[in-house]
Amino acid sequence: MGKRWLNERKKDFYYKKAKKENLRSRAAFKIIQLNNKFQLIKQGDSVLDLGSAPGGWLKAIKDLVGEGIVVGVDLQPITPIPQVKLILGDITDENTITEIKEYNTSFNVITSDCSPNVSGNWEIDHARQIYLAEISLGLCNHFLIRGGNFIVKVFQGEFFKEFIDKMKKIFEKVLISKPDASRKRSSEIYVVGRYYDPKYS
Ligand SMILES: C[S@@+](CC[C@H](N)C(=O)[O-])C[C@H]1O[C@@H](n2cnc3c(N)ncnc32)[C@H](O)[C@@H]1O
Repeated sequence: MGKRWLNERKKDFYYKKAKKENLRSRAAFKIIQLNNKFQLIKQGDSVLDLGSAPGGWLKAIKDLVGEGIVVGVDLQPITPIPQVKLILGDITDENTITEIKEYNTSFNVITSDCSPNVSGNWEIDHARQIYLAEISLGLCNHFLIRGGNFIVKVFQGEFFKEFIDKMKKIFEKVLISKPDASRKRSSEIYVVGRYYDPKYS
């Protein structure tokens, strides 16, 4: 990470707010804002969070679901969060699916904030990120209950529309949102799928 990036981060409103509120990442505000706007996660829900490290979303999601089950998956280790189940694994790996099933077989909501290691080559980064978004979408077919909700980060680019079309095949409603906590100059955007139903496919 460059010096300019580190300096900008220090001045960033949500970075400072996350530090002050003892949150693990500024990203936590994105899921909070998305949930305030769309009411996707509620008390008692079971939630599968993909690409969870360092755990900002996980903590926010646990607060929203109360006694509900929360499972987080990441390639990177995550410092434990009380009553949150953590899987150190790759979402593209079949073994990860088996591990998720050991904790829970169906979820009300799936969230995915997965990002690849960015190379700086825009086309490559976009393609890699869309791949992670598609893997996350595929996991809906394994784990999401009928009527369930999905929130996924996508980098905008040439494959974006194709991805949205795939979402429309299995969700009654597909909505696009850029929460205030998402940096303006970042191409990331969040796509929300409401009411999962494979009959749309
Ligand atoms: C932006 S961070 C997530 C931040 C998180 N939502 C939070 O609030 O703390 C993106 C994460 O995606 C994870 N990731 C990327 N590829 C993955 C894969 N194939 N399987 C699991 N996690 C992956 C990265 O390790 C990284 O921790």
